[in-house]
Amino acid sequence: MDEPVLKSPVEPHGDHLIPASRNSRGLTLDPTHLIEVNHRRVDFQALQSLVGTSIVHADQLSRELVVELSKFAALLEVTEIASHHPLDGKLVVTAFFEASTRTRLSFESAVLRLDGKIVSVPDGKVTGIAKGESLSDIGEMFNTYGDLVVIRHPDESSVGELASGLTLPLINAGNGCDAHPTQALIDWYTLLKWRPELSLPEPTPGKKIRIGLIGTPGVMRSVNSFLALSTMFAQHIEKVTVITDQSDAVTPEGASFPIELTDELEPNLSDFDVIYMNSITYRDEAYERLGSRYKLNADSRLKESAVILHPFARSDELHPSLDRTTHNLYFAQAAGAVFLRQALLIAVLDRVSHLPPSLLLLTTV
Ligand code: CP
Repeated sequence: MDEPVLKSPVEPHGDHLIPASRNSRGLTLDPTHLIEVNHRRVDFQALQSLVGTSIVHADQLSRELVVELSKFAALLEVTEIASHHPLDGKLVVTAFFEASTRTRLSFESAVLRLDGKIVSVPDGKVTGIAKGESLSDIGEMFNTYGDLVVIRHPDESSVGELASGLTLPLINAGNGCDAHPTQALIDWYTLLKWRPELSLPEPTPGKKIRIGLIGTPGVMRSVNSFLALSTMFAQHIEKVTVITDQSDAVTPEGASFPIELTDELEPNLSDFDVIYMNSITYRDEAYERLGSRYKLNADSRLKESAVILHPFARSDELHPSLDRTTHNLYFAQAAGAVFLRQALLIAVLDRVSHLPPSLLLLTTV
């Protein structure tokens, strides 16, 4: 039987898994802890429900799927599977009608590292949109060009318009102010690696986390999707404090943890275990920076063990003096994106069967 081949020769951890170290500064997370705390088991049967499915909103997922995708991503992070070519013969269309560094490139890296292929629209202006073509017609064309479409667009309605002509599965990579579900999966994947006990159904006594969210729900898609997934982990959350200077901020209805809205950062700062920051929104066909008076740097009065997440791009709200501190979880967050997106693509494109047999035997529930 084939043995999974280990990645770079670093300190062994467990029988065959090795810790990955990808981000150059800040906290480095060992994915093996998330695997070990779950008894090295991944429920690939649960991931079957994703085959051929479009991922449009975070709230269409469940806690179980988020945890299983994260455990699968952790396995991919520490196991060499590229030689098994799991996406060989699959072609992914990355259609980006709005600027992106991380989302497009990490999706493309995820596909190419698994030997899939890409056709890419890096800028909507080079498509028939320039001639007045509809997204519905573009969707119709994509049906024969690929096996799955990843779309980023500044308009909330774009996903529905493209989907109206599309028969392929679609992944929403950010539509206006609405949603960015794979970013939220990456955010929670990062938190589950940071505190693996958050992946368990029951909270560990004394280990509930307090989250400070510097951003504006309702107009920030990453914030909306992060909150939507957070409700699935409510049993582990003591409280979420949303810090915004916008009077029209919308907090999620029916959140199953205490949630408060404030315009004051300083009085709360030292209470937070996790700080999630975002400042950019896209409104009225322009990028806008909100909450510019909320800034963090290495001198900010954070709890010693506090960690910061940020989907990026950042501006002066997150000072580079924090990059070399242990508060910096944001580079590990960005580094994990490739593996979480690989797990999702393998599941949606029904390629779990292409994984090394010994990996499946070792890890399947
Ligand atoms: N996190 C995120 O969506 O970044 P990009 O805009 O660079 O894709």
